[in-house]
Amino acid sequence: MKLEGKVAVVTGTSPNIMGGIAEELAAEGAKVVAVDANPVFAEACARSISNGGGSAIHAECDVTREPQVIETIAKASEAFGGVDILVNGAVRQNRKSLLAMPVDEWRAQVDIILTGAFLFSKHAALQMIEQGRGGSIINIISTEAHQGNPGNIGYTTCKSGLINFTRSVAMELSEHGIRVNSLTPTATDVHEGRERADRWGIEWLSPAGTANLTGLLEKRRQIVPLQKLPRPSDYGKAAVFLCSDSDAGMITGFDLRVDGGNFSRYWGWNPLDGPNDWKDLPRQ
Ligand SMILES: NC(=O)c1ccc[n+]([C@@H]2O[C@H](COP(=O)([O-])OP(=O)(O)OC[C@H]3O[C@@H](n4cnc5c(N)ncnc54)[C@H](O)[C@@H]3O)[C@@H](O)[C@H]2O)c1
Repeated sequence: MKLEGKVAVVTGTSPNIMGGIAEELAAEGAKVVAVDANPVFAEACARSISNGGGSAIHAECDVTREPQVIETIAKASEAFGGVDILVNGAVRQNRKSLLAMPVDEWRAQVDIILTGAFLFSKHAALQMIEQGRGGSIINIISTEAHQGNPGNIGYTTCKSGLINFTRSVAMELSEHGIRVNSLTPTATDVHEGRERADRWGIEWLSPAGTANLTGLLEKRRQIVPLQKLPRPSDYGKAAVFLCSDSDAGMITGFDLRVDGGNFSRYWGWNPLDGPNDWKDLPRQ
Protein backbone atom coordinates (compact mmCIF):
# COMPACT_ATOMS: atom_id res chain seq x y z
CA MET A 1 0.00 0.00 0.00
CA LYS A 2 1.34 3.40 -1.04
CA LEU A 3 0.59 5.34 2.13
CA GLU A 4 1.19 2.66 4.79
CA GLY A 5 2.10 4.27 8.11
CA LYS A 6 1.29 7.82 6.97
CA VAL A 7 -1.07 10.08 8.92
CA ALA A 8 -3.41 12.22 6.81
CA VAL A 9 -5.43 15.21 8.03
CA VAL A 10 -8.29 15.97 5.61
CA THR A 11 -10.50 19.06 6.01
CA GLY A 12 -14.09 19.45 4.85
CA THR A 13 -15.07 15.77 4.87
CA SER A 14 -18.62 15.88 3.55
CA PRO A 15 -19.73 12.70 1.74
CA ASN A 16 -18.80 14.40 -1.51
CA ILE A 17 -15.24 15.17 -2.64
CA MET A 18 -13.26 15.31 0.60
CA GLY A 19 -14.99 12.24 2.01
CA GLY A 20 -14.02 10.45 -1.21
CA ILE A 21 -10.42 11.64 -0.93
CA ALA A 22 -10.26 10.58 2.74
CA GLU A 23 -11.50 7.09 1.83
CA GLU A 24 -8.97 6.70 -1.01
CA LEU A 25 -6.08 7.76 1.26
CA ALA A 26 -7.28 5.24 3.87
CA ALA A 27 -7.56 2.50 1.24
CA GLU A 28 -3.83 2.99 0.59
CA GLY A 29 -3.00 2.57 4.28
CA ALA A 30 -3.09 6.15 5.60
CA LYS A 31 -4.46 6.78 9.10
CA VAL A 32 -7.03 9.53 8.61
CA VAL A 33 -8.10 12.48 10.75
CA ALA A 34 -11.43 13.66 9.31
CA VAL A 35 -11.93 17.36 10.05
CA ASP A 36 -15.12 19.34 9.60
CA ALA A 37 -17.01 22.17 11.30
CA ASN A 38 -20.04 19.89 10.94
CA PRO A 39 -19.40 17.09 13.45
CA VAL A 40 -21.84 14.75 11.68
CA PHE A 41 -19.67 14.75 8.53
CA ALA A 42 -16.38 14.43 10.42
CA GLU A 43 -17.65 11.61 12.60
CA ALA A 44 -19.38 9.69 9.77
CA CYS A 45 -16.27 9.84 7.59
CA ALA A 46 -14.02 8.51 10.35
CA ARG A 47 -16.55 5.83 11.36
CA SER A 48 -16.88 4.59 7.79
CA ILE A 49 -13.11 4.24 7.43
CA SER A 50 -12.81 2.44 10.79
CA ASN A 51 -15.73 0.13 9.96
CA GLY A 52 -13.98 -0.74 6.70
CA GLY A 53 -10.88 -1.90 8.57
CA GLY A 54 -8.86 1.34 8.38
CA SER A 55 -7.72 3.70 11.14
CA ALA A 56 -9.44 7.04 11.55
CA ILE A 57 -10.50 9.60 14.11
CA HIS A 58 -12.54 12.74 13.66
CA ALA A 59 -12.17 16.34 14.81
CA GLU A 60 -14.90 18.95 14.91
CA CYS A 61 -12.97 22.06 13.95
CA ASP A 62 -13.62 25.42 12.34
CA VAL A 63 -10.65 25.94 9.99
CA THR A 64 -10.76 29.71 10.61
CA ARG A 65 -10.11 29.36 14.38
CA GLU A 66 -6.41 29.04 15.09
CA PRO A 67 -6.76 27.46 18.58
CA GLN A 68 -9.02 24.76 17.10
CA VAL A 69 -6.56 24.12 14.27
CA ILE A 70 -3.66 23.78 16.74
CA GLU A 71 -5.78 21.44 18.87
CA THR A 72 -6.64 19.30 15.83
CA ILE A 73 -2.99 18.88 14.79
CA ALA A 74 -2.14 17.98 18.42
CA LYS A 75 -5.01 15.47 18.48
CA ALA A 76 -3.75 13.85 15.26
CA SER A 77 -0.21 13.63 16.63
CA GLU A 78 -1.33 12.15 19.94
CA ALA A 79 -3.57 9.56 18.28
CA PHE A 80 -1.28 8.51 15.44
CA GLY A 81 2.25 9.79 16.23
CA GLY A 82 2.46 12.78 13.88
CA VAL A 83 1.13 14.27 10.66
CA ASP A 84 2.50 13.36 7.22
CA ILE A 85 -0.25 14.52 4.87
CA LEU A 86 -2.62 17.48 4.87
CA VAL A 87 -5.42 17.96 2.35
CA ASN A 88 -7.11 21.38 2.55
CA GLY A 89 -10.64 21.15 1.16
CA ALA A 90 -13.04 22.91 3.57
CA VAL A 91 -15.17 25.34 1.63
CA ARG A 92 -18.24 27.51 1.78
CA GLN A 93 -20.11 28.16 -1.45
CA ASN A 94 -21.71 31.58 -1.85
CA ARG A 95 -22.42 32.20 -5.49
CA LYS A 96 -22.64 35.98 -5.81
CA SER A 97 -21.24 38.49 -8.27
CA LEU A 98 -18.92 41.42 -7.46
CA LEU A 99 -21.86 43.83 -7.45
CA ALA A 100 -24.08 41.63 -5.27
CA MET A 101 -21.53 40.38 -2.72
CA PRO A 102 -21.77 42.04 0.74
CA VAL A 103 -18.33 42.62 2.22
CA ASP A 104 -18.98 40.60 5.39
CA GLU A 105 -19.92 37.56 3.26
CA TRP A 106 -16.82 38.11 1.11
CA ARG A 107 -14.65 38.19 4.25
CA ALA A 108 -16.29 35.04 5.64
CA GLN A 109 -15.62 33.13 2.42
CA VAL A 110 -12.02 34.35 2.18
CA ASP A 111 -11.56 33.31 5.81
CA ILE A 112 -12.71 29.73 5.23
CA ILE A 113 -10.97 29.06 1.92
CA LEU A 114 -7.74 31.04 2.22
CA THR A 115 -7.21 31.59 5.95
CA GLY A 116 -8.32 28.02 6.68
CA ALA A 117 -5.72 26.62 4.26
CA PHE A 118 -3.11 29.05 5.67
CA LEU A 119 -3.75 28.02 9.29
CA PHE A 120 -3.82 24.28 8.64
CA SER A 121 -0.74 24.44 6.38
CA LYS A 122 1.17 26.48 8.96
CA HIS A 123 0.44 24.23 11.94
CA ALA A 124 0.72 20.96 10.02
CA ALA A 125 4.07 22.15 8.59
CA LEU A 126 5.36 23.07 12.06
CA GLN A 127 4.48 19.54 13.18
CA MET A 128 6.08 17.99 10.07
CA ILE A 129 9.28 20.01 10.55
CA GLU A 130 9.48 18.93 14.19
CA GLN A 131 9.10 15.28 13.14
CA GLY A 132 11.82 15.67 10.51
CA ARG A 133 10.39 13.12 8.08
CA GLY A 134 9.09 15.41 5.32
CA GLY A 135 5.46 15.51 4.33
CA SER A 136 2.91 16.33 1.68
CA ILE A 137 0.31 19.12 1.53
CA ILE A 138 -2.44 19.29 -1.09
CA ASN A 139 -4.71 22.29 -1.63
CA ILE A 140 -7.96 21.55 -3.42
CA ILE A 141 -8.57 24.15 -6.12
CA SER A 142 -11.21 24.18 -8.90
CA THR A 143 -11.33 24.81 -12.62
CA GLU A 144 -13.04 28.07 -11.55
CA ALA A 145 -9.64 29.14 -10.16
CA HIS A 146 -8.11 29.11 -13.63
CA GLN A 147 -10.82 30.77 -15.70
CA GLY A 148 -13.08 33.78 -15.37
CA ASN A 149 -16.54 32.64 -14.26
CA PRO A 150 -19.22 35.24 -13.62
CA GLY A 151 -21.35 35.16 -10.47
CA ASN A 152 -18.96 33.44 -8.05
CA ILE A 153 -16.48 36.18 -7.19
CA GLY A 154 -15.45 35.06 -3.69
CA TYR A 155 -14.88 31.44 -4.62
CA THR A 156 -13.05 32.02 -7.91
CA THR A 157 -10.77 34.62 -6.31
CA CYS A 158 -9.91 32.53 -3.24
CA LYS A 159 -9.31 29.37 -5.24
CA SER A 160 -7.06 31.28 -7.61
CA GLY A 161 -5.16 32.64 -4.60
CA LEU A 162 -4.58 29.07 -3.44
CA ILE A 163 -2.66 28.32 -6.65
CA ASN A 164 0.12 30.76 -5.82
CA PHE A 165 -0.15 30.02 -2.10
CA THR A 166 0.69 26.45 -3.12
CA ARG A 167 3.71 27.50 -5.19
CA SER A 168 5.08 29.89 -2.55
CA VAL A 169 4.64 27.44 0.33
CA ALA A 170 6.22 24.71 -1.84
CA MET A 171 9.32 26.89 -2.15
CA GLU A 172 9.37 27.78 1.55
CA LEU A 173 9.02 24.19 2.76
CA SER A 174 11.25 22.50 0.17
CA GLU A 175 14.27 22.56 2.51
CA HIS A 176 12.28 20.42 4.95
CA GLY A 177 11.35 17.81 2.36
CA ILE A 178 7.69 18.87 2.51
CA ARG A 179 6.07 18.77 -0.92
CA VAL A 180 3.16 21.13 -1.57
CA ASN A 181 0.85 20.70 -4.55
CA SER A 182 -2.66 21.55 -5.61
CA LEU A 183 -5.34 19.39 -7.18
CA THR A 184 -7.95 20.85 -9.51
CA PRO A 185 -11.37 19.19 -9.56
CA THR A 186 -14.15 20.33 -11.83
CA ALA A 187 -17.96 19.89 -11.98
CA THR A 188 -18.37 16.56 -10.24
CA ASP A 189 -20.66 13.57 -10.72
CA VAL A 190 -23.01 13.56 -7.71
CA HIS A 191 -23.99 9.88 -7.73
CA GLU A 192 -20.96 8.72 -5.78
CA GLY A 193 -21.50 11.41 -3.12
CA ARG A 194 -25.12 10.32 -2.69
CA GLU A 195 -24.09 6.65 -2.44
CA ARG A 196 -21.43 7.60 0.12
CA ALA A 197 -23.99 9.53 2.22
CA ASP A 198 -26.26 6.45 2.18
CA ARG A 199 -23.36 4.19 3.12
CA TRP A 200 -22.38 6.54 5.93
CA GLY A 201 -26.03 6.59 7.07
CA ILE A 202 -26.36 10.37 7.05
CA GLU A 203 -28.50 13.03 5.43
CA TRP A 204 -26.69 14.97 2.73
CA LEU A 205 -28.26 17.62 0.56
CA SER A 206 -25.97 17.37 -2.43
CA PRO A 207 -25.42 20.73 -4.13
CA ALA A 208 -26.85 19.20 -7.29
CA GLY A 209 -29.91 17.91 -5.47
CA THR A 210 -32.26 20.18 -7.37
CA ALA A 211 -33.59 19.45 -10.84
CA ASN A 212 -32.01 22.68 -12.11
CA LEU A 213 -28.52 21.74 -11.07
CA THR A 214 -28.85 18.17 -12.25
CA GLY A 215 -29.76 19.55 -15.70
CA LEU A 216 -26.84 21.96 -15.58
CA LEU A 217 -24.42 19.17 -14.70
CA GLU A 218 -25.68 17.10 -17.65
CA LYS A 219 -25.06 20.10 -19.95
CA ARG A 220 -21.57 20.43 -18.50
CA ARG A 221 -20.89 16.72 -18.98
CA GLN A 222 -21.57 17.03 -22.69
CA ILE A 223 -18.80 19.59 -23.16
CA VAL A 224 -16.14 17.73 -21.17
CA PRO A 225 -13.64 16.40 -23.72
CA LEU A 226 -13.73 12.96 -22.03
CA GLN A 227 -17.57 13.16 -21.99
CA LYS A 228 -17.75 12.21 -18.29
CA LEU A 229 -17.81 14.17 -15.06
CA PRO A 230 -15.11 13.07 -12.61
CA ARG A 231 -16.11 11.31 -9.38
CA PRO A 232 -14.68 12.10 -5.92
CA SER A 233 -12.79 8.79 -6.04
CA ASP A 234 -11.03 9.98 -9.22
CA TYR A 235 -9.70 12.93 -7.22
CA GLY A 236 -8.85 10.59 -4.35
CA LYS A 237 -6.64 8.43 -6.59
CA ALA A 238 -4.84 11.55 -7.84
CA ALA A 239 -4.36 12.69 -4.22
CA VAL A 240 -2.85 9.29 -3.38
CA PHE A 241 -0.41 9.77 -6.27
CA LEU A 242 0.61 13.26 -5.10
CA CYS A 243 1.07 12.05 -1.50
CA SER A 244 3.09 8.98 -2.45
CA ASP A 245 6.82 9.67 -2.01
CA SER A 246 7.69 6.78 -4.32
CA ASP A 247 5.43 8.01 -7.14
CA ALA A 248 5.59 11.80 -6.74
CA GLY A 249 8.72 12.35 -4.66
CA MET A 250 10.07 14.93 -7.13
CA ILE A 251 6.79 16.79 -7.60
CA THR A 252 6.20 20.02 -5.69
CA GLY A 253 4.58 23.36 -6.50
CA PHE A 254 2.50 21.60 -9.16
CA ASP A 255 -1.22 21.71 -9.98
CA LEU A 256 -2.68 18.34 -11.00
CA ARG A 257 -5.86 18.86 -12.96
CA VAL A 258 -8.37 16.02 -12.78
CA ASP A 259 -10.91 17.61 -15.05
CA GLY A 260 -11.53 15.37 -18.05
CA GLY A 261 -9.65 17.85 -20.23
CA ASN A 262 -11.80 20.91 -19.38
CA PHE A 263 -8.97 23.33 -18.73
CA SER A 264 -7.01 22.33 -21.84
CA ARG A 265 -9.95 22.65 -24.21
CA TYR A 266 -9.57 25.42 -26.78
CA TRP A 267 -12.33 27.93 -25.98
CA GLY A 268 -13.61 27.97 -29.55
CA TRP A 269 -14.08 24.20 -29.80
CA ASN A 270 -17.28 22.57 -28.56
CA PRO A 271 -16.99 18.76 -28.31
CA LEU A 272 -20.72 18.55 -29.19
CA ASP A 273 -19.80 19.76 -32.67
CA GLY A 274 -17.43 16.82 -33.20
CA PRO A 275 -13.87 17.16 -34.47
CA ASN A 276 -12.93 20.48 -36.05
CA ASP A 277 -13.20 20.13 -39.79
CA TRP A 278 -11.13 22.94 -41.20
CA LYS A 279 -11.91 21.88 -44.80
CA ASP A 280 -15.51 23.12 -44.32
CA LEU A 281 -14.45 26.60 -43.26
CA PRO A 282 -14.44 29.33 -45.90
CA ARG A 283 -10.98 30.45 -47.03
CA GLN A 284 -10.08 34.05 -46.18
N1 LIG B 1 -18.26 19.85 -5.95
C1 LIG B 1 -17.65 20.29 -7.02
O1 LIG B 1 -18.17 20.16 -8.14
C2 LIG B 1 -16.27 20.92 -6.93
C3 LIG B 1 -15.64 21.32 -8.10
C4 LIG B 1 -14.36 21.86 -8.04
C5 LIG B 1 -13.73 21.98 -6.82
N2 LIG B 1 -14.37 21.58 -5.66
C6 LIG B 1 -13.64 21.71 -4.40
O2 LIG B 1 -13.54 20.44 -3.75
C7 LIG B 1 -13.62 20.61 -2.33
C8 LIG B 1 -14.77 19.81 -1.78
O3 LIG B 1 -15.96 20.20 -2.46
P1 LIG B 1 -17.38 19.56 -2.08
O4 LIG B 1 -18.31 19.92 -3.17
O5 LIG B 1 -17.21 18.16 -1.68
O6 LIG B 1 -17.73 20.45 -0.81
P2 LIG B 1 -18.92 20.31 0.24
O7 LIG B 1 -19.63 21.62 0.24
O8 LIG B 1 -19.70 19.06 0.03
O9 LIG B 1 -18.11 20.15 1.61
C9 LIG B 1 -17.42 21.22 2.18
C10 LIG B 1 -17.24 20.90 3.63
O10 LIG B 1 -16.52 21.98 4.27
C11 LIG B 1 -17.07 22.12 5.56
N3 LIG B 1 -16.79 23.46 6.10
C12 LIG B 1 -17.36 24.63 5.73
N4 LIG B 1 -16.87 25.63 6.49
C13 LIG B 1 -15.97 25.07 7.34
C14 LIG B 1 -15.12 25.58 8.35
N5 LIG B 1 -15.12 26.89 8.67
N6 LIG B 1 -14.33 24.73 9.03
C15 LIG B 1 -14.34 23.40 8.74
N7 LIG B 1 -15.12 22.85 7.78
C16 LIG B 1 -15.92 23.69 7.10
C17 LIG B 1 -18.56 21.88 5.39
O11 LIG B 1 -19.18 21.54 6.63
C18 LIG B 1 -18.57 20.74 4.38
O12 LIG B 1 -18.61 19.48 4.99
C19 LIG B 1 -13.76 22.11 -2.08
O13 LIG B 1 -12.51 22.67 -1.80
C20 LIG B 1 -14.32 22.62 -3.40
O14 LIG B 1 -14.00 23.97 -3.63
C21 LIG B 1 -15.62 21.07 -5.70
